[in-house]
Amino acid sequence: MDSFIVRGGQRLHGVLSASGSKNAALPIMAATLLSAEQCLLRRVPNLRDIATMATLLSSLGATADRDPKEASVALNSCALDQFRAPYDLVKTMRASILVLGPLLARFGQAEVSFPGGCAIGSRPVDLHIRAMEAMGATVAVESGYIVAKAPRGLSGADFCFDTVTVGGTENAVMAATLARGHSTLRNAAREPEIVDLVQFLRAMGARIEGEGTDTLEIEGVSALHGATYEVMPDRIEAGTYLVAAAATRGDVKIDGISSEVLGVVIDKLALAGAEITCGEGLVSLDMKTKRPTAVDIETEPFPGFPTDMQAQFTALNAVALGHSSVVETVFENRLMQVHEMRRMGAEIDIAGDRAQITGCEQLQGAPVMASDLRASASLVIAGLVADGETRIDRIYHIDRGYENIEGKLQCLGADIRRIST
Ligand code: UD1
Repeated sequence: MDSFIVRGGQRLHGVLSASGSKNAALPIMAATLLSAEQCLLRRVPNLRDIATMATLLSSLGATADRDPKEASVALNSCALDQFRAPYDLVKTMRASILVLGPLLARFGQAEVSFPGGCAIGSRPVDLHIRAMEAMGATVAVESGYIVAKAPRGLSGADFCFDTVTVGGTENAVMAATLARGHSTLRNAAREPEIVDLVQFLRAMGARIEGEGTDTLEIEGVSALHGATYEVMPDRIEAGTYLVAAAATRGDVKIDGISSEVLGVVIDKLALAGAEITCGEGLVSLDMKTKRPTAVDIETEPFPGFPTDMQAQFTALNAVALGHSSVVETVFENRLMQVHEMRRMGAEIDIAGDRAQITGCEQLQGAPVMASDLRASASLVIAGLVADGETRIDRIYHIDRGYENIEGKLQCLGADIRRIST
């Protein structure tokens, strides 16, 4: 099993290119199931979750040909003959649920293993199921599988999500593209990755309006065609490197990302004392060697502060000047990184969904354990600002969502290496 050894104390400095977005690429890959024609996706990151989605699509009978040099994947589901997402794949990646809507819409049947709990909470999929039922599907849970059927196809529906859900919105919008008639999805998620998915679906011939707002209007069509599409850059990856640079009092330029998708993350970094410059597809951060100032954050669906950046800001606040509070409202149990950071000397108290942080001048290196993807990234940041050596175990979590993180950090001057034991 791989671990990272990080020796803290280097100020990060340099230029990086943003990789393609994991959270946009996964639903877009699932959406290729909606067409019998080939789709070519570009700027697909080389990540474990992407490989898992490719394996899942292949297990259904699709072909998935990856060209790592071009960061592209050609997907073709003309000969699909299986409609079941097995437990072994779903348990390693919850986003497997994203095949539910496309399979049901094109083939009238889908079976997806029920995703269980995960490190960051119970994460139900009831709203995915209710949206499918609203479009006329019958859904049952049999032997741990969600078994959905719509033998006469789906029908357009007016559906309102009780809670804003990214994956639920994605499943519903994909299903609605091939449903008979008109669908309206209310209280839909507005994340940039939803906008990217809708743009891809439109490139396939879907008729959708309203992406980026909380209401999506979809006019079903009888078939979708193939498309070539470039996935958006990863705003969470870019944000993670900006926070790492801020925590180490360094400076970094991220190429290929626009400030609009980073939104409130940039505002919070500016409040923490960073000098931020945004150009055409470029965001630069410079701390001018200053210690960051503590910033309060509270997670919310987009355009609020992203839950996927919460752990990284917890690490920043742990070494910032002053007191701060970090409130997690999107997921239960997503402050796991705090227990490991405390072992590095961080002064953090947890009460329910809130962490109260008193910034300290320096953390101390320690052996720590990654618990989920973003928590792992925050421990890398903590290691970069700690005195001495930090060993981070279970980094398979980080390989799910960060392409070559050690290589990118080494380019910025970090002392980080991967070891296999
Ligand atoms: C996606 C992202 C994840 C991010 C999250 C929130 C991908 C692959 N993953 O996850 O990185 O942290 O959005 O921005 O894009 N909920 C329900 N019922 C449902 C579905 C969700 O109650 O049927 C709840 C969840 O438990 C959670 C909240 O809604 O509390 C938001 O979850 P959701 O937006 O669905 O997250 P994911 O799509 O799983």
